[in-house]
Amino acid sequence: MLRETLKRLEMRARTRMPEPIRRAYRLARSLGDAHPVPGLPEELLADCTFCASREAMLDRLPKGGRIAELGTYRGDFARQILARCRPAELHLVDIDYSLFDAWDLTGSEVVRHLGFTHQVVAGFPDAHFDFVYIDADHSYEGCHRDALAAAPKVRPGGYLVFNDFAHIDPWLGRYGVHRAATDFARAAAWPMAFFAFQPAGLYDVAFQRPE
Ligand SMILES: C[S@@+](CC[C@H](N)C(=O)[O-])C[C@H]1O[C@@H](n2cnc3c(N)ncnc32)[C@H](O)[C@@H]1O
Repeated sequence: MLRETLKRLEMRARTRMPEPIRRAYRLARSLGDAHPVPGLPEELLADCTFCASREAMLDRLPKGGRIAELGTYRGDFARQILARCRPAELHLVDIDYSLFDAWDLTGSEVVRHLGFTHQVVAGFPDAHFDFVYIDADHSYEGCHRDALAAAPKVRPGGYLVFNDFAHIDPWLGRYGVHRAATDFARAAAWPMAFFAFQPAGLYDVAFQRPE
């Protein structure tokens, strides 16, 4: 309980830090954190479609279904999901909604959940979602924990999507998302279905749950 409260306060403070301090903090935390990253086997990459952007990827993902966004911040990408995928249910999960911009995210299909992403997503029925979009804790441990909690909640044929599929953010320092996503996909044998370009190298990838 105390650990969770401290983590919540730390995350809240981090999103409010002035940018230079935020960068220095991220870099300091990542010092000495170097890991080899094995690749993905050819058969998990063979049918991947390359998209021009994460918005273009949304246009290819299922429509009218059930979607979760883990980590929503101001709600900017939630707006894109809503407009492009027209979900019957859009579940947003975040530990902090103080900067959330709710003006057009008030429909009955949008449900906000306050809490840690891995804990909230674990509470949904298995095979519930058409896709889960992971964009919360970008450390290896946090992202891998979210992937393991979310994977059983994705229906067969549905997708687990990772934002910021990168080792490093050009402004904020080291990320664990690339390693977490590839470790997850290799172990679960979920093929990469979509790879979305992003100019700063902060790509999105979608892995498809086998039928
Ligand atoms: C990068 S922002 C999300 C941006 C949003 N997906 C978009 O593209 O517009 C990350 C968000 O995740 C939240 N977050 C980070 N770690 C979390 C965790 N373990 N549980 C819940 N929320 C978390 C932060 O509060 C922040 O609002």
